[in-house]
Amino acid sequence: MTDENEKILQRIAYLRSEINRHNYQYYVLNSPVISDAEWDRLYRELKELETAHPDLVTSGSPTQQSTYQISEKFSKVNHPAPILSLSNALAPEELTAWYERIARLDERVCTADFVTEPKFDGLSVVLHYRNGIFFMGATRGNGEVGEDITNNLRTIKTIPLRIPVDPDGPEAPAYLAVRGEVYIRLSEFEALNKRQIENGERTYVNPRNTASGALRQLDPAITADRPLEISVYNIVAAQGSVPATQWETLQFLKALGFPVTNLNRLCPHLDAVFSEYEAWQERRDKIDFEVDGMVVKINDLRLAADLGVVGRDPRGAIAYKFPAREVTTRLCDIGVNVGRTGVLTPYAILDPVEVGGVIVKQATLHNFDFIAERDIRIHDRVMVKRAGDVIPYIIGPITEVREGSEMPYVPPSVCPSCGQPVEHLEEEVAWYCVNAACPAQLVRNLEHFVSRSAMDIVGMGIKIVELLADKGLVKDVADLYTLRYEDLENLEGFGKKKIDNLLTAIAESKNRPLSRLINALGIRGIGEVTAVDLAKTYGDLDALRTASFSQLLSVEGVGPNTAQAVVDWFARPANQQLLDKLRSNGVWPQMTEAMAVKNVKFLPLQDLTFVVTGTLPDYSRDGIKEFIQQNGGKVVGSVSRNTSYVVAGENPGSKLDKAGELGVPVIDQGGLLALIKQNR
Ligand code: IVH
Repeated sequence: MTDENEKILQRIAYLRSEINRHNYQYYVLNSPVISDAEWDRLYRELKELETAHPDLVTSGSPTQQSTYQISEKFSKVNHPAPILSLSNALAPEELTAWYERIARLDERVCTADFVTEPKFDGLSVVLHYRNGIFFMGATRGNGEVGEDITNNLRTIKTIPLRIPVDPDGPEAPAYLAVRGEVYIRLSEFEALNKRQIENGERTYVNPRNTASGALRQLDPAITADRPLEISVYNIVAAQGSVPATQWETLQFLKALGFPVTNLNRLCPHLDAVFSEYEAWQERRDKIDFEVDGMVVKINDLRLAADLGVVGRDPRGAIAYKFPAREVTTRLCDIGVNVGRTGVLTPYAILDPVEVGGVIVKQATLHNFDFIAERDIRIHDRVMVKRAGDVIPYIIGPITEVREGSEMPYVPPSVCPSCGQPVEHLEEEVAWYCVNAACPAQLVRNLEHFVSRSAMDIVGMGIKIVELLADKGLVKDVADLYTLRYEDLENLEGFGKKKIDNLLTAIAESKNRPLSRLINALGIRGIGEVTAVDLAKTYGDLDALRTASFSQLLSVEGVGPNTAQAVVDWFARPANQQLLDKLRSNGVWPQMTEAMAVKNVKFLPLQDLTFVVTGTLPDYSRDGIKEFIQQNGGKVVGSVSRNTSYVVAGENPGSKLDKAGELGVPVIDQGGLLALIKQNR
């Protein structure tokens, strides 16, 4: 063997082992350590080497097999037709080359039109309907066989359980299997991570893996808790008539009631496809989900089918990728922020780097466990990702280029703001500063309280807030309302006009609506929208502070976690005192009768009481309890005449006999789901 051949063989072996390693990280562990763009580069290089040396292709090469590992956790589903993938174009020449290739194969391509669709960075699923009823849903799996995740998919509110959703819509085919992409909005992802931080729990690395992890949960109640959405784009199989073009297919799916994005376009020729790609470069930053490219599809489905498939990729469609939003840079240091609730969160201080036209200097490092798990060291070269408006985040270190001078990171043992020892609560990942007088927490609290979406105290920015806290003039948010002219006149930069304006703005803020004050209190899980719902329902803070968990649950937008957070917040003596102080300082807005409409959402298990016995197929004991509560029901421990239903699984206990004695109806898991559906 020549030296040259030896080198090629070595390179191929290296690429295969790297790709296999990263496939495992991505598909099995749901925890990628390199960017998609880097993976693409490795895969491409391997593919090119194998094309140039076909004799070196082996059946074990990752280019020859579907990489997805099907989990043993779920039962398997045979797909009615192969669930295909797409080849990529990374540059305009590659899109043109694709077009020319298929035009040579079939001259109808020369006059063909195209559909462009966003390439959702999510998880492909197949939804099956018989006589208009959703009866099964599966992951893509290896393209031939997927995992049965029906119960999890049922929790995604936008998946229609019956089609057509509108009775006046088109008739559904007797059998229909459609394909779509499940994803999480960037805003929801950020809110989810904020909640995780506040709860001292692990943050999620990126929306795609969060969606994937949520869909592959054994407990549907956990899936239900994640903000999953779907966009549908394909008919995989049907019995009955279906449209002949991709564009009409999208309209048909929409008319049946499936969520179909309105970012799809019909392009009469390839030039229009290029213009659409240009339009995407601006649009990409403005939309609330991650899109890593544009899918270009031949509109005529007959022609697309005739063009055939190469490996797993149909010739009639291609993914035209957008420039990567991931770059590498040096991690100069790790800083630590102290949040409103005292949670310490690390962040990366970076060598400034441009990502998609924006200079990035800092990025989220999630939590201290993340740094340890990824073995992120100071001075490492790290991969940074920026998507939409989400704060840039670190994917991981590039260990291959370590020089030896990188230093492992040691989390602080004292709060960087007040110097008090930090604490770790059992079963939580977060480290807290538990010093109630910690200035950083006070500053964060004040900052939120005075902000535009809360009490909107005009002119009171972070600098003033920091100064007031630093000088000890304000020890909690209620102190703002007792500030006097004399308190401020000796502060640097405070003239008469400024002081007058500030005191007027503070006084004016007493008249803000109740919802503003509820938001301003900074209760975990309560933002602007839920605050409005709570204000409408309760009318004043006296009513809200005595609301019970189950009453809160029936308020629009309030789930079990938020309901608990509200109850906990009002139960804390320090918060009770704060409320009393706000009231005596004249900050006690009320909702007038006319404004206070009952804002109660209807929950399918409302007013029903359940007892659970035995092992259920898909739910743990806590899982089913939470699921019933989320749907408005109450779960109690023993059967009485007041019990509405006993939910029984395998090996039920004496509760089942008791139900028989008292004539309480007994249902299984399926019966419970049917009850929810019927009452919805
Ligand atoms: S079409 C023949 N359309 O991208 C059908 N795929 O890299 C082939 N994807 O596996 C797929 N958005 O999971 C299609 N609008 C879209 C898509 C889309 C996202 C995913 C899909 C596919 C992957 C290919």
